[in-house]
Amino acid sequence: MIFEMRSPETVLFGRKVREQLPELLPEGNVFIICGAHSKNILEKELLPKLAGKKVELFTGFPAEAPLDITDHALNAARNVNARSIIGWGGGSCIDAAKTVASLLDSGISASEAFRSDLPLNERKCFFAALPTTAGTAAEMTPNAVLCDPESNVKKSLRGSAMFADAALIDPELLMGAPDHVIYSSGFDALTQGIESTISAKSDAMTMMLSIEGTFLTWQGLQQYSAGNREIGVFEALARGCMLSGAAFVRSGLGAAHGIGHPISGSKGVPHGVCCAILLIEVLKWNLPVVHEKMLQLSRRLDCGTPEQFIDAVAALRCKCGLPENFKDWSLAAADFPFVVKNCRSGSMKSNPRPFSDEEVAALLEKLI
Ligand SMILES: [Fe+2]
Repeated sequence: MIFEMRSPETVLFGRKVREQLPELLPEGNVFIICGAHSKNILEKELLPKLAGKKVELFTGFPAEAPLDITDHALNAARNVNARSIIGWGGGSCIDAAKTVASLLDSGISASEAFRSDLPLNERKCFFAALPTTAGTAAEMTPNAVLCDPESNVKKSLRGSAMFADAALIDPELLMGAPDHVIYSSGFDALTQGIESTISAKSDAMTMMLSIEGTFLTWQGLQQYSAGNREIGVFEALARGCMLSGAAFVRSGLGAAHGIGHPISGSKGVPHGVCCAILLIEVLKWNLPVVHEKMLQLSRRLDCGTPEQFIDAVAALRCKCGLPENFKDWSLAAADFPFVVKNCRSGSMKSNPRPFSDEEVAALLEKLI
C-alpha cells in the first residue's frame, strides 16, 4: 500500500503561539493579508516586533476570495518585493495569501492560474498562516478556494506550494468573533470532520484524526451555544478544525462541499451556512453505504445510532441559529442546471455514494 500523509512544514498550536511568528520570518519585506478585525492586534502586537522590515498590510477581502481582489493583492506584494507572505484572518484571507505566495515569483496572475488548472508546486518565498476562525482549515491544506465574480464559478487552486511553511493556530485569535461567524465556521469544520470520516477515501489514520476532530468541534459548538465563552471552548473549536483539516487533506470531503460550492459562489450563501443546510440531506443519502463508519462517529459523540446522530446534528444546527433550507437566498429549480454542472469537484468524487445529475436536483428540491 502506498501511504502518504502531508501537512504544513511546521504546525504550532496553543495559546499565544502567534508571538513566535517574528522569529520564523526570513530576511526581506513582509506582506500581510489580514481581516479588518485583525488589523488592531497586528498593529499593536506584531508590527513593533518587525521594526527594520518593510511591512505592508492588505485588508478588505470579503468572505469568499474573489479572483480580482486576489490579483490586486498579488500585484501589491510584487510591488513591495515581499519575501514573506502572511495570511492572518479567516479562510478567504488565508486562501488569498496562499495564492499570492505560490504565484509571487511565477510571473502569472491568479486569474491565469484559475483558468489553467495547473498545479502550483514551486514557491520561493516564506508563507505562514494564522487563522482567526475555526472553519475552513485553510492553514492545513494545499489548496485555495477562489471565486470568479464574472462566471460565479468557485473552485480550488492546488499544489504542494500551498502548504504553509508555518501554521500558527492560536485559539485566542478566535475570541471576540461574532456568534454568527463562530456558528457558520464551526459548521464548516463539523461538516469537514463528518465528510472526511465517511469519505470513500478515508482510512484508519484519517478516521483517527477526523473522528477526534469532529468530537472536539461538536463539544465546542455545544458549549458555545450554551453560552460558555471560556478559552477551553475556543481551544476545542480550533483543535477540532485542525485535526479534521489534517484528515481531509488525504481523505477528501463529500457532497455537502461539492454541491455547496456552486451554490455559495452564485447565490452568496456563506460557505459554512451552505454546508450546514446541505449536511443533513447528504448524510441521509450516504447512510446506507456508510453505516459502520457513521456508527463509530456517533458512538464517539455519544449520540447513539447513526440515525440518532443525524437528528442530533439537525438539533445542533437549530441551536446555532443556522437555517435548514435556501429560502433566504431564493434558490430555485431554474438554478439547478448551474449547480449540477459545476458541482463535480474532487469533493463529489470522494462522496461515498455517487449522485446522478437527477439525484443532485432531487436533493436540492428538498431544500428550496
Ligand atoms: Fe469547508
